[in-house]
Amino acid sequence: MLTCTEQTEALLWCRAMETGVYLDNAATSHPKPACVREAVLHVMDTVHASAGRGAYSEAQEASAILERTRGALACLLRVQAPERIVFTLNCTDALNLALKGVLRAGDRVVTSDMEHNSVLRPLAALQERLGVRVDRVAARPDGCVEPEALAAALREPARLVVLQHASNVSGSLQPIAQAAHAAHAAGALFLVDAAQTIGSMPLTPESIGIDLLAFPGHKALMGPLGTGGLWVAPHVDLATVREGGTGSRSEEAQQPPFWPDRHEAGSHNLPGLAGLGAAVEWILHEGVERIAAHKQLITQRFLAGLSDIRGVSVHGPLQPECRTAVFALSFANQDPMEVGRLLETRHGVKARAGLHCAPFAHRTLGTFPQGTVRLSAGAFTTLADVDRAIAAIADLTRA
Ligand SMILES: Cc1ncc(COP(=O)(O)O)c(C=O)c1O
Repeated sequence: MLTCTEQTEALLWCRAMETGVYLDNAATSHPKPACVREAVLHVMDTVHASAGRGAYSEAQEASAILERTRGALACLLRVQAPERIVFTLNCTDALNLALKGVLRAGDRVVTSDMEHNSVLRPLAALQERLGVRVDRVAARPDGCVEPEALAAALREPARLVVLQHASNVSGSLQPIAQAAHAAHAAGALFLVDAAQTIGSMPLTPESIGIDLLAFPGHKALMGPLGTGGLWVAPHVDLATVREGGTGSRSEEAQQPPFWPDRHEAGSHNLPGLAGLGAAVEWILHEGVERIAAHKQLITQRFLAGLSDIRGVSVHGPLQPECRTAVFALSFANQDPMEVGRLLETRHGVKARAGLHCAPFAHRTLGTFPQGTVRLSAGAFTTLADVDRAIAAIADLTRA
C-alpha cells in the first residue's frame, strides 16, 4: 500500500511524464529526426546482409549504405578521404582505437583534467601496461584549459596531445586550434574528443590541424546509440587494435593494409549506421550553422534564467560564445541526486545528476565528490522547454 506522499509523488510523476522535457542530450540525443527511424527500419526490414560479404543485391546495398554514411560524414567534416573515417561502437571505442593505435611503450601523452573517463581510463590502462607517461594539464575553475598551460606542458617532448572540444560537465569550449599548434610545435600528434560538439557546431579537422578526431554518432549527430567513428588524417599511421574478417583479401593471414577495412574487423552495426547516415544528411540539409545558432539562443536563455534563481550556481563560462548548451548546477543545501530525482518526478524534466564520468572535471569545478545536476539541450530543445526547466528549478529551490 502506497503512503499518501508516495501516491501524490506517483500522481505528479504520471502527469509530468505525459509532457516531459528531455534535457540529457549530452548523454545521447532525443528525439532524433524521423528519417533516422525510417532508415533503421528499412535495413531491418529489407537489407538482411553484412556489408562486403557477398555479391548478391542486399550485400551490395549494405556496402552502399556504409559508403553513403561515410560520405555524408566526410562532407560534414569537410575531409578529403572518406575511407579515413573508421566506424566504431561509440566515442569511447573511437578513443580507445586512437590511443591504443598511436601510443607505444614509454611514450608521453599530455591531456587535461577536464577529460571524460573514456580518455582517462584507457590512458590509465596504458600507463599500467606499457609505462606510458600521462600528464594532465589543470584547467581554470570555469573548466577552460588555457593554451599557455598546454604550451608549458609541451616544453618536454610528447607523442600525443589529447583534448576534448567541449566539456560534458561545464560546457566549456577548449582552445583546440591553439592546442593543435602547440602539439605540432612539440612534434606531437593531436587527438580531439568531439563528443560534445560534432553535429552541433562547425568542425573541420583538416583546417584546424587535428590529426585524429573521435566522435559519437548518437549525440548531436543524432544517429542511433551504438554508433561512432574515428577520423584519422592521411599522414597518421595507426596500429590495429582489433583484427578479423573484413570480406576483403580473405586469403591473407594479415589484416588488409587499406582503409577502412584495416580498422573495421567483423560485421558492422548496419541498422545503426544507416540511421547515422540519414541523421547526418538531415544535419547537412538543415545546416550545422543553423543548429549552432539555435543552441546559442538556448544557451543565452538558460544563462539568463538561471542567473535569476537564488541558491543555484551555474558552473562553466558565463559568456555564451565560450560554451555549449550543457549546464552543471549546484544547489545550496540540496543534494544533486535528490534535485535530479525531483526534477523528473515533480516536473518531468529529465536531467542527469552525479559525476558524469569526469571526476577531475568535478574537482576542477569544486563539485567533487557530490557532483552536479546537469541539463543539456539538443537541436530540438525549444525556448519553452528551457523556461519550463528554469521554472522547475526555481520551484525546487523554494521547496
Ligand atoms: C566528452 C565525452 N567524451 C566521450 C564520451 C563517450 O561517448 P560514448 O558514450 O559515445 O562512448 C562522452 C559521453 O558522454 C563525453 O561526454
